[in-house]
Parts: sequence; structure tokens; C-alpha cells
Amino acid sequence: MKILFAASEIYPLIKTGGLADVAGALPVALRKKGHDVKLIMPAYQGILQKVAPIQLTINLGNPFGAGDLLLLETHIPQSDTPIWLVQCQSLFEREGGPYADKNGNDFHDNHLRFAALSWAIARIAQDGKLIDWQADLVHLNDWQTGFTAAYLKSWQQAHPPIVTTVHNLRYNGSFDMGQFSETQLSPSLLSMHGMEFYGRFSALKAGLVYADAITTVSPTYAREILTPEYGDGLDGTLKALEGKLVGILNGVDYEQWSPDQDPLIPHAYQINNIEQKQANKLALLQENGLSDDLTHPIFGIVSRLTEQKGLDLVLAAMPSLLEKGARLIVLGSGDKALESGYQRLQENYPTQVSVRIGYFEDYSHRIQAGIDALLIPSRFEPCGLTQLYALKYGTLPVVRQTGGLADTVFEEGDQANGFVFQDATSEALGAAMERCMDAFYNTDQWRKKQITAMQQDHSWEAVTDQWTNLYHSLFTA
Ligand code: ADP
Ligand code: GLC
Repeated sequence: MKILFAASEIYPLIKTGGLADVAGALPVALRKKGHDVKLIMPAYQGILQKVAPIQLTINLGNPFGAGDLLLLETHIPQSDTPIWLVQCQSLFEREGGPYADKNGNDFHDNHLRFAALSWAIARIAQDGKLIDWQADLVHLNDWQTGFTAAYLKSWQQAHPPIVTTVHNLRYNGSFDMGQFSETQLSPSLLSMHGMEFYGRFSALKAGLVYADAITTVSPTYAREILTPEYGDGLDGTLKALEGKLVGILNGVDYEQWSPDQDPLIPHAYQINNIEQKQANKLALLQENGLSDDLTHPIFGIVSRLTEQKGLDLVLAAMPSLLEKGARLIVLGSGDKALESGYQRLQENYPTQVSVRIGYFEDYSHRIQAGIDALLIPSRFEPCGLTQLYALKYGTLPVVRQTGGLADTVFEEGDQANGFVFQDATSEALGAAMERCMDAFYNTDQWRKKQITAMQQDHSWEAVTDQWTNLYHSLFTA
């Protein structure tokens, strides 16, 4: 099947979170199954320097009048996965990240930037002659590509079926109604059953209501988003679309994330020489100038620092565990109050806490290898990838029971691989961390959980059949 897979971030070209990991890995797994998958993403600043020379360039024009949209064809570095890069200097080549400037403020014209991207996706999805490749199916991801479904709908011509994957409902790509005319979409789409969203217009909602199938990234999140608590205002819409909604758990790219072959960690290890994890622990403590006593557990955090992730709860729970000898290693960036909260904790416990604010891919691997337990006390978590990476590294996750965390981390039973709590309170988190710490001092119990964790298979190969079945179901209905 020919699949046009559209995303606003794709590892290793650009990444702000798990979406990039998924968009960099699921298409590769689908290609291994014989699907002809092509990726499409904007040519942000610096992207063209990371890819092989461009093989083909097509000028799509630009109805938005911001300079022509060029479609450039190349490959993902070190892979044979083809990618179309949508180039438009005035829209995409900017300082900062894909969505915000270097101070973290959203670009004021994101509605136009991602309308232009979506318009380009829709053009080539609909008219295969443009690029001599006719997609059988378009796979959209999150709000940034959601307008694609609206363009295809409004052009009122035959087009391939659309699958929209929700990675995070909190980001719904909604904009002020006054900006709608700039998208050149038909106002007839602005009904309550269309892309109107509480007096605004939403790219994500367009991606949902005009899709043939909706997926999200774990079975539990697929159920949760039908409720007001987790639905972020879209639960009513999703409830009406429930028949076409399914949760398929994300996978892990084990070529990137396996401690036996990870060039980014100091000491390779696997189940049969798991003692080597200690050497990574020691290296991590020394790298951070922390006291190098290995008898106590190191807790770790690798995360965007946002309300979603519940990391304010750690700030409240941590001191009593530090008093008992625990250590804490933090890598993250985002919310300024959380950044300074963690920096204060480091100042108060300089030999036990290390905090690095920023985004460092290599360091995230050393943390996964060197810590004992990873903290993910999320208020909501569509899937979560860091707990899956942790499991493979014999690092036990401490998680709140929500979304993909609830589907992958278990405290009891045959699958026991971590520590789980229910209420989003520092008391409930603190109690789970205490249980984790007690288990750490019981070497046999800890080792058993580590081995269970490392043996669990969250490869993409394990879920590609679910994707293939879903894609095929759209042609047999
Ligand atoms: P989300 O997409 O909600 O941020 P996920 O757990 O799905 O959460 O994915 C987060 C991804 O981003 C993981 O690959 C994680 O290792 C990475 N990551 C998050 N913060 C940082 C950081 N500060 N430095 C390096 N990698 C990070
Ligand atoms: C989102 C979610 C995260 C998920 C990731 C990839 O960013 O917050 O839970 O793992 O997308 O699907």
C-alpha cells in the first residue's frame, strides 16, 4: 500500500517530543512489512544541511501568497526512507523550534504555517500526477497536519482515505475565528460538527471529523479521551466518532534504544551481565559530581517540564526521599517555574541532586542507563515513550496509572516491572517512591523486576500488524 505519512517533527531530523520518535520509526517498520511509505514534513531551518542532496523539486505554488511552496525529495539520514520536505523560506526557515521562537513563544502565524503544510500534503495526496506517486492512504499526525483533512473535504473530489493519529489532545491547534479566511478553507466547514471549536477553529478537530479512522497511541488513552476529564473539550466530538476510534500502543526503535548496542552509553550491558549497569550508574554520578555511593537508588527524570507530566509532585515528594539517601538526576526544559523549582532543589541538596535544563539527546541515553528508577507521574499520558526505553535498560518506572503508562507498567503480577500509583498527589507519588526504594534494597526482588522489564517486547514489529489491519479495513468496509 502507498502511504503518505505526514508529521511536523521526525527523528533524527527534528524532535521536541515523542511524536518525532514515532514518525521516525513507525514508517520504517511499515516499510519492512512491504508498504511504500513516504514521509512529509516542513523544511525547517537547518534541515536541508542534515539530508542527502535533493533528488527532485516541484513547485506547488502557494495560494497563501507567502512565497512558493517547493516540494523537495530526499531520504532520512542513514536510512532509505524517502521524505518530501516542504520548503518555504518565509514560513519555515526561522530561529527557534518548529512551533515557537527561541523564547518559547508560539509563532504568531502558526495557523498559516501549518495550513500551508497541510495544503501541500492535500495537493499531493489528491493528485498523484504531480509527483508520479498516487497515495492509497494519507496518515496525519496531531493538529499540525489536521487541516489536510479539511482541504481534501472542501475540494469535494475523490481522495484517498485519511487516518488521523492523536498523540496529544491537549494541543488542539485552535485559532481565532478572525484568522479563518487566511486558510482559504470554505466557511461551510465551520459548523459544530465540522471544525468549529468553542468559537474558534481547530486543526485537530478537522483532522478528527474528516478522517476515515482515528487512532490514538494507547488503548487506555483511547478510552480516557471520551470523558470530560481527559477529553480537553473534544470528548463530545470523539464520543460521536467512537466507532472509528482505536488505540494502538506505540513501539520502540530498539536500534536506537538497547543497552547492549547503544554507542551513547559508557558501558554496554544486557540481562546476562546486568552488573554493568552499575558501571553506568557510577559514571553518571561522577559526571554530575554527585557522591558516588552506589548503595542508594538514583531516581531520574527525562521530560518536557509541563503541567501534563506532573513533575510539580516530585518537587514536593522528593525531600523526604533525599533525606533517606536517594539521589535525583533531572534533564528537562519547559515551564519556567518548574525549571527554577528543580534548580532550587539542586541548590538545597548539591551532593544528591543534579539538574540540567535543556534538550540533550545523548545525555538522555546515559541517564536511562545509569539511573535505577524513572519518574513519570503524569496527570495524563497518551502513550509515553520514556517508560518503554527505561524498561529495556532495566530501569524501573514509577508512574501514575493513566494512558499508555497504565498499559505498560505494572506493580504486581507476572508482568511486574515498576511502581504504580493512582491519585495525582505528592502523597500518592511519595508512597510509590517509598515502595520503590524499599524494593531497591531487596536485591532479589529488584533483579526479578529488572529482568521482567528487559524481556518485555515493545518493538514496532510487534504492533505493525495492527496498523496494517487498520489500513486494510478502510478498503473493505
Ligand atoms: P512527550 O512526547 O509527551 O514529550 P514521550 O515520552 O512520548 O513524551 O516522548 C518524549 C521523548 O523526548 C523521549 O524520546 C524523551 O527521551 C525525549 N526527551 C524529553 N525531554 C528531553 C530532554 N530534555 N532532552 C532529551 N530528550 C528529551
Ligand atoms: C505525545 C504524548 C506522549 C506520546 C507521544 C508519541 O507527545 O504526550 O504520551 O508518547 O506523543 O505518541
